[in-house]
Amino acid sequence: MNIILLGAPGAGKGTQARRLEEEYGLIQISTGDMLRASIKKGEPLGLEAKQLMDKGTLVPDSLIVRMIEERIAEPDCAKGFILDGFPRTVAQAEALDAMLAARGMKLDAVIELVVDEDKLVERVSGRFTCAKCGEGYHDSFKTPQKAGVCDSCGSSEFTRRADDNAETMKARLQAFHDQTAPILPYYETKGALKSIDGMADMDAVYDELVQLLGL
Ligand code: AP5
Repeated sequence: MNIILLGAPGAGKGTQARRLEEEYGLIQISTGDMLRASIKKGEPLGLEAKQLMDKGTLVPDSLIVRMIEERIAEPDCAKGFILDGFPRTVAQAEALDAMLAARGMKLDAVIELVVDEDKLVERVSGRFTCAKCGEGYHDSFKTPQKAGVCDSCGSSEFTRRADDNAETMKARLQAFHDQTAPILPYYETKGALKSIDGMADMDAVYDELVQLLGL
């Protein structure tokens, strides 16, 4: 099963994609995580992307499309994948259609997580991640069971994203409205788009997602 999870920054795409990967073996493909990994390695692609990501603006389509094309060609993606943070422009959506058609693959579902804007800011402002395994947490909505220790891997190192601040969030939301929201009608016209109330708690969102996907 190949799925797209759509939604504004902080809507819960990564949280839900990680859980679907853990429980159903679908591969999470997060363009944001891929770019951050490239920055960490000091690759030219990462360095180019970092300047844009720190401002909250989108990275060029050509660069992202190449990255996804290479990733979905890897053997593990044959098990099915969840696109998290891609596509983000109509050009990316069109490129995805073309690359899937060329590989004889198809999309099974496009799901939008709908969350109010003030809640999005609250969510990204409180987000932190385990530096070792990437498990996601939140200061108010999901704290580690033992303070300062990751539930998943026991590490005590956590990180916060450079773009998770109120100023950059304004630009990220603007990019979402201007460049990403137009892909909703793109998938609606194809009859592929379904929406979920992303304001509910994480477990309730997950249950609705699983039901909608028929898993
Ligand atoms: P990216 O990393 O994709 O960030 P984003 O889309 O802004 O999304 P987030 O990761 O912030 O949010 P999320 O929806 O995954 O929320 P999460 O589950 O973590 O992109 C970063 C940058 O990279 C972009 O700005 C751009 O520059 C570049 N980029 C990436 N892809 C690109 C592309 N395709 N094209 C061009 N540029 C690209 O949840 C957030 C917090 O809320 C967490 O703390 C979580 O614990 C909590 N939470 C989640 N769900 C709930 C819930 N139901 N109730 C309460 N709390 C919740």
